[in-house]
Amino acid sequence: MLEGIEPGRSPIDLSVGEPGHPMPDLVGPILADHIGEFSKYPPIWGTPELRDAIAGWIGRRYPPLRGQIDAERQILPLCGSREGLFSAIFPALSRRSELSDPIVLIPNPYYFSYAAAAAGAKAQAVYMEARPEFGFLPDFEAIQSDLLDRTVAMYLASPSNPEGAVAGEDYLEAAIGLARAHDFVLFADECYSEIWIEAPPAGALETAYRRFGDFHNLIVFQSLSKRSNLPGLRSGFCAGDPDFIASYAALRNVACPQMPLPLQDVSAALWRDEAHVEANRQLYRAKFEAAARILGGRLGFYPPQGGFFLWLNVSQKGGGEAAAATLWKAYGVKVLPGAFLGHQYEDGTNPGKNYVRLALVGDLPTTEEALARIVEWAESE
Ligand SMILES: Cc1ncc(COP(=O)(O)O)c(C=O)c1O
Repeated sequence: MLEGIEPGRSPIDLSVGEPGHPMPDLVGPILADHIGEFSKYPPIWGTPELRDAIAGWIGRRYPPLRGQIDAERQILPLCGSREGLFSAIFPALSRRSELSDPIVLIPNPYYFSYAAAAAGAKAQAVYMEARPEFGFLPDFEAIQSDLLDRTVAMYLASPSNPEGAVAGEDYLEAAIGLARAHDFVLFADECYSEIWIEAPPAGALETAYRRFGDFHNLIVFQSLSKRSNLPGLRSGFCAGDPDFIASYAALRNVACPQMPLPLQDVSAALWRDEAHVEANRQLYRAKFEAAARILGGRLGFYPPQGGFFLWLNVSQKGGGEAAAATLWKAYGVKVLPGAFLGHQYEDGTNPGKNYVRLALVGDLPTTEEALARIVEWAESE
């Protein structure tokens, strides 16, 4: 959309959600120590050390789950969460092979891989609008029950991208309850769960365990991309329903990438370490405090409950696409029009239309400069 247009001032790019903080120091030495393991094929299940490290992290992050996760049957490493969010749709579809017209439920706005999965599985994507008046989370009451009976999977992101909305335990219980009642798989995308300002977001695994006593019909997706500032490591995992994990592992063993062994060693060390994660959160906190100070109440600013995005309402300034064009042309600030993250319904409406998304992934001074320019624009005629 902005190709060929020169920025009006020195460019600042807030449009790409790629974590930009320094990566943890422990990565280099561990990689060097284990470099020889690139000569081996890695197991699809991951090493016992990696699965133990992940189970340990889950138990520390969600204390009721301490000792409750079976590292052998309930955890599967992924090469980042994205490939998992895509390929997990296939076992979800297979477990409901009696359905001739399957449905995948997707929040709107949403992360693209959910829709790619539905398309890849030739399932119908049904979008669940995440309205501001409902805390930017989908309203499950609005989904017709005949659709739920045809559903193979529901994607739900908490914290969400782009709105930074967090689902509480009651909401997660409702989502898991629907999955259990209608026998679909809830894919809980929690890759932003470690970036929070005030309180750590609730988790779907913990909720399932507390409210239902097991993890049936639930798979949680996690990642080191945001938590540890390592989007290039391509390391994540999924955890939950052991029957689903077994069939997914069988598929992955013939069709999906394994995580190279040296990267499994690095990942295990990262899941064991919380100091770098806290330092990372502090860097985001400083930027969110700056955003509150500089933006004040302008453009519907609210501090996100999790994640690293601002979701600003620019309806008074002509909507997201016009705002993104002016901010770039006149102020040199690149932001993402919200409509790019939303599905447009048949009636032409798109829940992202009145918004722009800002990724606060750069350093503090650059972020402050960008926000000051946005205020200048907001106050212009
Ligand atoms: C909501 C959401 N889920 C999943 C991902 C995938 O992240 P990764 O594959 O790096 O774990 C992203 C990446 O931006 C995201 O925004």
